[in-house]
Amino acid sequence: MSEGVQTSPAFTPRVFSGIQPSGDLHLGNYLGALKRFADAQNQGIQSIYCMVDQHAITVWQDPVKLARATRELAAGFIASGIDPNKSILFNQSQVAEHAQLAWIFNCVARMGWMKRMTQFKDKAGKNAENASLGLFGYPALMAADILIYHATHVPVGEDQKQHIELTRDIAAKFNHDYGIEFFPMTEPVIEGAATRVMSLRDGSKKMSKSDPSDASRINMTDDADTIASKIRKAKTDPDALPSEAEGLKDRPEARNLVNIYAALSDMSVSEVLAENGGQQFSAFKPRLSELAVTKLAPISTEMARLMTQPDEIDAILRHGAAQAREIAAPILQKTYDIVGMVR
Ligand code: AMP
Ligand code: TRP
Repeated sequence: MSEGVQTSPAFTPRVFSGIQPSGDLHLGNYLGALKRFADAQNQGIQSIYCMVDQHAITVWQDPVKLARATRELAAGFIASGIDPNKSILFNQSQVAEHAQLAWIFNCVARMGWMKRMTQFKDKAGKNAENASLGLFGYPALMAADILIYHATHVPVGEDQKQHIELTRDIAAKFNHDYGIEFFPMTEPVIEGAATRVMSLRDGSKKMSKSDPSDASRINMTDDADTIASKIRKAKTDPDALPSEAEGLKDRPEARNLVNIYAALSDMSVSEVLAENGGQQFSAFKPRLSELAVTKLAPISTEMARLMTQPDEIDAILRHGAAQAREIAAPILQKTYDIVGMVR
């Protein structure tokens, strides 16, 4: 996180990130997001993490499942090491300032910008006319999530890069239109070996909760046997592991497993290959399984324990929302003043 801290000196470093409560968390979410959120927190940077329930409903969510998924996601954050006494942890709908700022950004952002978003194109599919207006405007709400805190750094997986660039475009246009340097130019933080964890069945597709094959991903709630069996069956090629990263070129499945190993063990890809180069997958896969189980089992056990105490989770989210509002409310008021809204 230290590399990117060069934003305008007027803004104190502050980390924000969000995850949608729209279903099971998987290894990609853990390595690409949650684990890195905990790292940022532990570096002592003020960190704000949000369950973006308003983003989730841009596609249909069953109300009972949404509430459960929000609590389960909160449990996933806490079990992954995000400490509610160190970081601010809450769900988006409890802090109305996000949606209020999003409206202003709806009036700053241009239709053409939104149309270029690959996530919109993917999610809307062939029938874009039938997509919700919220799905189209999704990135303006995301920009508001970030900028309502004047956040300077946003740790995310590779797939969110375009949305952070749009956030910068919105901030720049707002600052330019109103002639004031009010919103920071937020930096995406896309670092480490696992910014794009791929499917275990197809090294060209990212690991995703929407993949119909459960064998394609490791869910954070999978037990040890399931994790081991998914890794055993993961697609690979017949060659041994190379001794240097260069040798992973054009071997997407091999590269993915090595990246996962590196991210789980906090080693570099070169270090992993220095240790395991020359091995067959029949030898490497059991090592990877053991590592994955060692790292993930305590998290899933803790998630399950927390889920037996939903009232405690709700209290943590309410407390986090109150802390978040303390930062967000004055920034929204200042924005209203800049725009010329009488109060
Ligand atoms: P989502 O589950 O799509 O809401 O994503 C939540 C967070 O996890 C975002 O920061 C994503 O960039 C990250 N993420 C999702 N899938 C992956 C993946 N396969 N590899 C790395 N990061 C991911
Ligand atoms: N769009 C992000 C995703 O799909 C979730 C998200 C919403 C987010 N608001 C955010 C991520 C703000 C980072 C910062 O994963």
